Amino acid sequence: METPLLSDWIVIGAGITGLRAALTLAKTAEVALITKEEASESNTHYAQGGIAVAMGGAEDVELHAQDTIHAGDGLVFERAAHLLVEEGPARIAELLAWGTNFDREGDGLGSLMRTREGAHSLPRILHANGDATGKEIGRALLQCAQHESHIHLYERLTTRDLVVRDGRVVGVHALDAAGKPLLFVARGVLLASGGAGQVYSDTTNPLVATGDGIAMAYRAGAEVSDMEFYQFHPTALSVPGAPRFLLSEALRGEGAVLRNHRGERFMERYHPMAELAPRDVVARAIMHEGVGERPGEALPVYLDMRHVTGKDLHARFPGISSCLHSYGLDLARDLIPVRPAAHYLMGGVRTDLFGRTTLPGLYAAGEVACTGVHGANRLASNSLLEGLVFGARAAETMLKEGSHGEAPIAAEKATAAVEEISLPAPEASRVSALRERLRSLMWLHAGLLRDHLGLSALESELHNMRHELPPATTRENAELCNLHTVAELIVASALARRESRGAHARTDFPQHDPGCAKHSRMVRGQIDFIDFY
Ligand code: SIN
Repeated sequence: METPLLSDWIVIGAGITGLRAALTLAKTAEVALITKEEASESNTHYAQGGIAVAMGGAEDVELHAQDTIHAGDGLVFERAAHLLVEEGPARIAELLAWGTNFDREGDGLGSLMRTREGAHSLPRILHANGDATGKEIGRALLQCAQHESHIHLYERLTTRDLVVRDGRVVGVHALDAAGKPLLFVARGVLLASGGAGQVYSDTTNPLVATGDGIAMAYRAGAEVSDMEFYQFHPTALSVPGAPRFLLSEALRGEGAVLRNHRGERFMERYHPMAELAPRDVVARAIMHEGVGERPGEALPVYLDMRHVTGKDLHARFPGISSCLHSYGLDLARDLIPVRPAAHYLMGGVRTDLFGRTTLPGLYAAGEVACTGVHGANRLASNSLLEGLVFGARAAETMLKEGSHGEAPIAAEKATAAVEEISLPAPEASRVSALRERLRSLMWLHAGLLRDHLGLSALESELHNMRHELPPATTRENAELCNLHTVAELIVASALARRESRGAHARTDFPQHDPGCAKHSRMVRGQIDFIDFY
């Protein structure tokens, strides 16, 4: 039997949310910060465009709230949106004090530069090193965390399942890089494990984004919400054989336009804001323009910046330029082929505005959580802000609630839950083939456009696949099981929502149904719709 690793709190995930939360928790408590890869590898690291924040006073803040609510297509929980934008400026001031270098006007000492992205009424997106905003924020936060003696960083650990004792989450089972089982025990657990883009074959997300937190929480009996709302970023690189590298919305903020295979600019036909329309609208327009007349014929769609003069695009977007260069493309001179790819999950583990899930001892914040702040479609560059604001709120709540609890929860109770893992290791090639099959089926039937026929066929496929799932004895196996759980949640919620709204587009129910302006909620195989949080 393993000796449990005891801490006051466990934080799973070392992206912006986990790091921000750990810094608050560590003021008065010991924190085990667990991450699946090295600490710098998370969705945060790849966030390009920036972080949206209204720093110009009350009117500015109210406009940011209205843009967030409008983009969310009738489903944003307005109190959450107001908290996000009102608390945002203080969180950014804190980041600046902690050494984050956002881009500035002039020689780098002037005021903060701001760009515009889709569905924002003003330029309010801060950025760093041009298009490496998440990487810079992650760097600064990680540096602070590394100087904090109460934060104990555990890298390259895969979390397998939450430990629930007497109805309370008291720890987590994990595997180290060699597959050795470990048990962590604490007063409570914060999920900050990010999204699940790997559930789709086409995604901008890194390999670590396998929905582990959502799957573990659901298996433990927590409620999840709004899982049908997966945001597809309109412009991922579309070069055969290349990964779906993100081409930031900030490119369109700086003047890029979209053209179809005939060279026509088409977005004005779809929305008055044209290329800066909400993301769901742009993604579907690109998909529509990319369909040829013959069955299965795919037509190219391009991002075009050739007309943008007076800006050094390579200096403004160094990461994107260098990636394009490796495929023989030049941002300033070439048409860049693009297509949508899965990018961000609006749904997740249902929480209140204090990060509390429906399970005592379990908290969640950031992309893994669903506060309702994004509704059916997230406003561009609100996700890093969400991580900061709700990560800090969850940590403050944990400190308040934890000070009344047992300290830490009796380890021997939890230790009894460590089972010896002695099942035979399944063939790695079978596991990876199953993962690829699941991802392709999800793209095909639960992607940008869905209908009853495709979704119900997928539901049965996923049901049959249950019997093929391996025991979670390795990272690859655990990830496959988690992707499968997340896929089932997305499909069940997408089938249940018989309307189109935000990122959820049903070709068999193409309109809004005002009666469906509710949040889906799933727990232990049951689904219903609720009005508000
Ligand atoms: C982008 O740079 O386009 C991504 C930013 C986001 O997802 O909000």
